[in-house]
Amino acid sequence: MKYQGNTLEHHWMPFTANRDFKADPRLIVRAEGVYYWDHKGGKVIDATAGLFCSALGHGRKEIADAVGRQLMEVDYTPHFQMGHPSSFELARRVAQLTPEGLNRVFFANSGSEAVDTALKIAMAYHRARGEGQRTRFVSRERAYHGVGIGGTSLSGLMRNREAFGAIIPNVVHMRHTWLPENRFVRGQPEKGAELADDLQRLCDLYGAGTIAACFVEPIAGSTGILVPPKGYLERLRETCTKHGILLVFDEVICGFGRLGKAFAAQAFNVTPDIMTMAKAITNAAQPMGAVAVKEEIYDTVTNAAASEKAIEFFHGYTYSAHPAACAAALATLDIYEKEKVFEKAAALSPYFLDAVFALRDLKIITDIRGYGLIAAIELAPTGGPGVRGTEVQKKLFWAGVHLKFTGDAGMFSPPLISEKKHIDEMVSIVRNVLKDL
Ligand SMILES: Cc1ncc(COP(=O)(O)O)c(C=O)c1O
Repeated sequence: MKYQGNTLEHHWMPFTANRDFKADPRLIVRAEGVYYWDHKGGKVIDATAGLFCSALGHGRKEIADAVGRQLMEVDYTPHFQMGHPSSFELARRVAQLTPEGLNRVFFANSGSEAVDTALKIAMAYHRARGEGQRTRFVSRERAYHGVGIGGTSLSGLMRNREAFGAIIPNVVHMRHTWLPENRFVRGQPEKGAELADDLQRLCDLYGAGTIAACFVEPIAGSTGILVPPKGYLERLRETCTKHGILLVFDEVICGFGRLGKAFAAQAFNVTPDIMTMAKAITNAAQPMGAVAVKEEIYDTVTNAAASEKAIEFFHGYTYSAHPAACAAALATLDIYEKEKVFEKAAALSPYFLDAVFALRDLKIITDIRGYGLIAAIELAPTGGPGVRGTEVQKKLFWAGVHLKFTGDAGMFSPPLISEKKHIDEMVSIVRNVLKDL
């Protein structure tokens, strides 16, 4: 593909150093399986499944065909007061994967929209129960819940918050779960469950009856893969149950097999009240997000409406349950099931974690964390937080591996269909680049 420098100017790119990128662009022009190809013809192995989303790798014909067929059959239907059969089927299929009881599904178009939707469901639910005074939300330092005003308010990453004054009030944060003594611990650390007591402390400070919901990523993803200490999620669950606070798992990264089970809720055996999801629900071939809630939440909000003919929840998107996204999701879920993708991910996990943790001898690496098919390497910073991470990410790209960095943490989240030889390739390119730094 040809491009000229000045053709890049009009696109204001997201989460990108625009000027730096446009001076030395990295364009992906083809994708197939676990590989990308850049505009200079280089082959780049995809060690982060795009942005933690292309679980089946790239260019799956079944998904593309399903989307194409759907667009020719019915390209678009509103979902306000009418519908399209595929969204009902998709909700049923998602509910088969979620933990028992979380069987009502609302569709959005991204993880950020799913998070905003979950916030509004929590507010609507408490109001319907006559507890409208529960207006406070609990989140966590180092959390990432997308970029809507809701998700920005929940965010625990300073750079994602500092420029934006107009975030929603009444969000309070627990401490993050990274502890120095847990460096290089593989899987769930033994130490740190007591960090969950921050939720009880916030209840003691503000009054539990003012708190609507507690949002957590079961594994904090974008911040650099913080695996929850043993007992931590269980303790959050207990505190939420004790005080009538909704526990929300943001499963946007963890969901759909990343941890070897359909969702983190099953991997860690802790059931939340609400789950948000996106990304791998369509293998990222179409934008989609979703929120699964306990039946009781749906019933409470629905039954509180003025009459059977009244709209119960004043929320929705023009593209909620877009037919093409539903088609992509149904085709994706078919492949997950037919090819036993989640089971294969679980089987590959020990090999993957062995390979990533073997990088420990590199002097530039100060920590490694991982679980299932997700792991992070933390680099010693130079020249301020994230400076080295950004430079290393670029070097790795030109060396033939896509590894997403946040700050100085590089995150492996390979397609779930990766084979051992792909893991070897990803890790060996990373080793070669990092060994001399
Ligand atoms: C846990 C979590 N929630 C929400 C989001 C936002 O999703 P999106 O970028 O689709 O809006 C992300 C994105 O990485 C995420 O990791």
